[in-house]
Amino acid sequence: MISIQLIRWAKRTLLRLGIHKILPARKLTKLGYTAYLSEWIRHNRPPYTSFPYSGFDTRLRYNLYDHLIAAEKLNDAIDYLEFGVAAGNSFVYWEQKITNKAASFHGFDTFTGLPEDWGHFKKGAMSSNNEMPAIDGNRHHWHQGLFQVTLPRFLENYAGACRKVIHLDADLFSSTLYVLTSLSPYLKSGDILMFDKFNVPLDEFKAFKIWVDSYYIEYEVLGEVNNYYQTAIKIK
Ligand SMILES: C[S@@+](CC[C@H](N)C(=O)[O-])C[C@H]1O[C@@H](n2cnc3c(N)ncnc32)[C@H](O)[C@@H]1O
Repeated sequence: MISIQLIRWAKRTLLRLGIHKILPARKLTKLGYTAYLSEWIRHNRPPYTSFPYSGFDTRLRYNLYDHLIAAEKLNDAIDYLEFGVAAGNSFVYWEQKITNKAASFHGFDTFTGLPEDWGHFKKGAMSSNNEMPAIDGNRHHWHQGLFQVTLPRFLENYAGACRKVIHLDADLFSSTLYVLTSLSPYLKSGDILMFDKFNVPLDEFKAFKIWVDSYYIEYEVLGEVNNYYQTAIKIK
C-alpha cells in the first residue's frame, strides 16, 4: 500500500518540476475521454442504433429525428430549445415536422459564429452574418447573443411546464456544459436531449459526462447515428 506521505511527496515533486513540460496534458486527456466514451458506449446501446457504422452520413440525423418524433410522440405542445442554430438546418427541420400549433421553438445563437476556436474552426466560424433563418408563422423565437447572456434572461420568465426537446449543437465544451448546467433545475422526466457531436471526446461528451456526474442525472439513451455522433437521451 502506497503511503499518503509518498503520494504527497510525488505530487509536490511533479508540480515543482513542472510535469506539464514533459506530459502532453491535452493529448492525454483526449485519450482518457476517448476511453470513457468507449466504456460509455459499451454500456449504452440504445434501441435505435446503427453502431458500428462504416462511414458518416449527415442525412442519418434526420432519420433519428423522425424516429424520435414518432416513437416519443413529440408532435405535441412541446418546447423545442436549440443551442447552436447557425443557418437553421436542424431548427427548420424540427419546426416543420412538429405541426402542433401549441408547440414553441426557441433558437439560441450569436448568429455571428463560434465565440472561441474549435479545433480547425476559428472564432467566428459558422457565422450566418447576423441573419436568422426565415420561417413563417409565430411559433418561433430567436435569442441572439452568447448563451451565457441570453439563456439566463430567457429562464427568468420560463415556467418549464411543457415537455422539452433540447437540441445541443454548439460544438464547444464550454457552451454545452453551460447550457446543461443552466437547464438542470428545469429538467423533468421525459425531456429529451439531442446532441449533435456527442462523440467528440473533449467537447460534447466531456461536457455531458461532467454534467451527469456532478448533478446525478439519470437517463436512458434513445438512439444514435453515425457512431454516436448524433445521440438522443431521455431524462428518467
Ligand atoms: C454547428 S453550428 C450549428 C448548426 C445547426 N444546428 C445546423 O443544423 O446547421 C454551431 C453554432 O453554435 C453557436 N454557438 C456556439 N457556442 C455559442 C455560445 N456560447 N453562444 C451562442 N452561440 C454559440 C455558433 O455561433 C454556431 O452558429
